Amino acid sequence: MKICMIGTGYVGLVSGVCFSDLGNDVVCVDKDLNKIENLKKGISPIYEPGLSELIKKNYKIGRLKFSTNLKDSVIKSDIIFICVGTPTKKKTNAADLSQVFDVSKKISRFIKSKFKIIITKSTVPVTTGDIIEKIISKGKSKKLFSVVSNPEFLREGEAIRDFIYPDRIVIGTDSSRSNKILKNLYSPLISKGAKYINTTRRASELIKYASNSFLATKITFINEIANLCEKININVEDISIGMGLDKRIGSRFLRAGPAYGGSCFPKDTKAIVNTAEKFKINLSLVKSVIKSNEKRSLLLLNKLIEILKGKIKNKNICFLGVTFKANTDDMRDSSALAMIPSLAKKGAKINYYDPTGEKNVFKKIKNVTFINNIKSAIHNSDLVIIHTEWNDFKSINFKSLIKKKNFIVYDMRNIYSPLKMKKAKIKYFGIGR
Ligand code: UGA
Repeated sequence: MKICMIGTGYVGLVSGVCFSDLGNDVVCVDKDLNKIENLKKGISPIYEPGLSELIKKNYKIGRLKFSTNLKDSVIKSDIIFICVGTPTKKKTNAADLSQVFDVSKKISRFIKSKFKIIITKSTVPVTTGDIIEKIISKGKSKKLFSVVSNPEFLREGEAIRDFIYPDRIVIGTDSSRSNKILKNLYSPLISKGAKYINTTRRASELIKYASNSFLATKITFINEIANLCEKININVEDISIGMGLDKRIGSRFLRAGPAYGGSCFPKDTKAIVNTAEKFKINLSLVKSVIKSNEKRSLLLLNKLIEILKGKIKNKNICFLGVTFKANTDDMRDSSALAMIPSLAKKGAKINYYDPTGEKNVFKKIKNVTFINNIKSAIHNSDLVIIHTEWNDFKSINFKSLIKKKNFIVYDMRNIYSPLKMKKAKIKYFGIGR
């Protein structure tokens, strides 16, 4: 299959590289020349385990190409994936679809005589496919193209595995021709056990938002239960295990922690509420999930102040990990963005270490310093905060690395055993226990 991915952001690049690895001819297009030049050299714009290796391998074989030429790339392809960004619009909760529509107009110009499938892989609100179809159909026969929804369910940091072993592949189209072609495209994954479902385009668009909103709800639910556990001396891990064993509930995404972040859950929960409002439907549950999550960073900040008995000024606080979760360099909506500046403002001296390096966003903040190794970062700490669950943070010998006697560990990912910490005489706090 000849495939064109438009947009080399997270979704487009990972999917494009994986499609080429499955044996397809893929061209990844982006208007950012610098990004394209770097990709040709095998330099990935994002941190994703295993991605650079696959880029280099498939580029060398010639199955994977990078280009800024949208026209040529669309003309030569049978399947075109739209993978541009759909950020939250400023001052509203709606998804900004300007890039999607802009690309659709361009694609429309290059559909001449050969049938093409145009697929939205970007997360787009229900009915976006209908608008794209209208844009593309201007002045041409509908027999020449088909607009399909095929949402992605990749997690940052696990994206390649999620692509190869997806739980499901959702194809939203009522065109049997397109469905047949796409089933064939995905056949290597289907033969490995992935479920393939064909729905209407609108249903497919909503499946993506409903899935992300449900997962955000599940996390927020366990986070609120964790708040209760802290008050009544129960370990929330026991609750997660006890609930998760019920097959109707399932154990995944029941890990209590800081507020959920990233480029998807915060944006998509807001966008689904906005879409529902357009249809005069009140998604009150999702609304309260958004509120609860937004308040969570302040809640943990207050807990932190309580742990330090209100004495923040001149305290040496070390953050281990600042991204929104482990195995990514993504800072978007990370709860560290709310916590670090606020603690620095209160006079704390903050060191942070992250395996993905220094973050621009903290460069200008007084008293916030990046240290490029765990040992030096925590050496002088009064309080160590484990903010993300990188493997690097899972077996730290705090006692031998921290020079102060009465240091405290606040483990926001519940990595360590409270019992073992107690035995080691380390002052330790977790989430919901
Ligand atoms: C999420 C979804 O999991 C993917 O299926 C989806 O494709 C993607 O959004 C998207 O729409 O593009 P991602 O944002 O990469 O993936 O990250 P997750 O692993 O889902 O984590 C999101 C947030 O929830 C993180 O802050 C993480 O720390 C938090 N989380 C996750 C918890 O606090 N507890 C959990 O049990 C799981």
